[in-house]
Amino acid sequence: MSHRVGVIGGDGIGPEVVAEALKVVRAAGVELDTVDYDLGGARFLRDGTVLPEEVLNEWRSYDALLVGAVGSPGVPPGVIERGLLLKMRFDLDLYINQRPFLLPSAGIDMIVIRENTEGSYAGEGGVLRKGTPHEVATQGSVNTRMGVERCVRYAFELAESRDRKHLTLVHKTNVLTFAGDLWERTFTEVAVEFPSVSTAYNHVDAACIYLVQSPDQYDVIVTDNLFGDILTDLGGAVSGGIGFAASGNLNPARTGPSMFEPVHGSAPDIAGQGVANPVAAILSAALMLDHLGEGDAAARVRKACADTSTLTGSTTAVGDLVAARV
Ligand code: IPM
Ligand code: MN
Repeated sequence: MSHRVGVIGGDGIGPEVVAEALKVVRAAGVELDTVDYDLGGARFLRDGTVLPEEVLNEWRSYDALLVGAVGSPGVPPGVIERGLLLKMRFDLDLYINQRPFLLPSAGIDMIVIRENTEGSYAGEGGVLRKGTPHEVATQGSVNTRMGVERCVRYAFELAESRDRKHLTLVHKTNVLTFAGDLWERTFTEVAVEFPSVSTAYNHVDAACIYLVQSPDQYDVIVTDNLFGDILTDLGGAVSGGIGFAASGNLNPARTGPSMFEPVHGSAPDIAGQGVANPVAAILSAALMLDHLGEGDAAARVRKACADTSTLTGSTTAVGDLVAARV
């Protein structure tokens, strides 16, 4: 069976790393029926297009979307982020952002579950008297019981399926008392359904210390959208570098396609030189394979990437090496 996948190579190093990810998936014996989309910062600068509604609707019947990286110098902040990436996450209801980190030599084997449709990303707020000395800007954080609960429940189910069965809630309940209370109560209530999962709570600032000093204490972390954004860059930095950090933007209810992308950006400074590390894109494709029910191929791809010290060389050389191993 062939899976229909929309491919957005995007900007900078995006198309280079996505090409290697597709090469590896095909080498693993999985048939993909891909459709390419020219979207991202370069397209916006060319003709003003960000994400047409027809394209979004076309994607609704697809099995998955694979994104390289989007963003170009010269595009005003927010245009591509809100108009393309966040629009995909919100309109396709990709409510889980799953980001695994693995570095056995440091005892790191953890997955961060980041809520992906709410919080400070929701776009609540506005500006008054812009450009005057009396300017007011507000940017609220939206937390719904439904949104928090489905995210927390997903994280418990994931933790229950893993060997260590440990789940840490990360928030800032001592200061963000309204949102923190909703997260904490939801977490405590859902925990009752998962008696085999042990739990912990960390304030986000403390979690930054622990991620650097003793990351082996974590198994699964669940957190809100903005904390998850920040923690997963840190997670990448302590587990081999952002060049290895993969992510799945998941719609676990499967009311539409899920989207897979490396955590890193478009890195325009090294674009076109063939030096970008494609492993984050390749591991994102492995997450896609898991979601498509191709768990065996996903496991082979991950195994082929496990010895990261051997994955050096040009973008295509690393892709060829991994492809040869799957
Ligand atoms: C990420 C990115 C995005 C985010 C940006 C590009 C909108 O940093 O996927 O982590 O903040 O979520
Ligand atoms: Mn980020």
